[in-house]
Amino acid sequence: MMDRQIRIAPSILSADFADFGREIRAIEDQGADWVHVDVMDGHFVPNLTFGPQAVKAFRRHVTTVMDVHLMIAPVDPWIAAYAEAGADVLTAHLEAGPHVHRTLQAISAAGMKAGLALNPGTPAEAAAPLLDVADMVCVMTVNPGFGGQGFLDMTPKLRALRAMIGDRPVLIEVDGGVDPANAARLAAAGADVLVAGSAVFRGGSAEAPAAYGRNIRALREAAAGALAPA
Ligand code: DX5
Ligand code: ZN
Repeated sequence: MMDRQIRIAPSILSADFADFGREIRAIEDQGADWVHVDVMDGHFVPNLTFGPQAVKAFRRHVTTVMDVHLMIAPVDPWIAAYAEAGADVLTAHLEAGPHVHRTLQAISAAGMKAGLALNPGTPAEAAAPLLDVADMVCVMTVNPGFGGQGFLDMTPKLRALRAMIGDRPVLIEVDGGVDPANAARLAAAGADVLVAGSAVFRGGSAEAPAAYGRNIRALREAAAGALAPA
């Protein structure tokens, strides 16, 4: 477990909404491992972002991994559209409907990696019956809906999930309020993928992207420090 590779996934929720193509190219040039795309429906969460047509347009600019986080309910009627849009990973919330096991199977059947997101109020144990049909568990460290919120410490949940997953090929992603001050703790507790919106985009722009690079490196170095052999 000590050689776990940490992936940094900037959330374009913090990008310039009038310039997604350039913003995506900028974060990838500056070292992003994945591109995290937050889809909100104004119903499951109290905010609205974009839908499959926009996500399909983002795809043309993504050369790494397009990680699509659905904060929508219901999910199932939209799975085909996000496959068509080119999502590599499609994450649905456990809380979004009564049949999340079916949803995860449908995401896999549509040719994408299936992610399962857990709100802060949902215990790790709720994911136990789903770990054989998920490729990733996304632990929310804010209540979903907005970027720039305060970090909620879910370290015990991360440790519990890491233990429950065992040697299954299931990644753990952490999403919300991630910054260089908590990245080490998250990596040590079992995170593989760190999503960060404000902590990546602050201080930079598509015209002046060097700050994105510094911010990504700061996260990566903080996380790697926690995994380095003593
Ligand atoms: C929250 C989103 C997150 C968010 C992260 O609902 O799922 O991906 O954009 O933004 P920060 O890092 O600013 O909390
Ligand atoms: Zn997200």
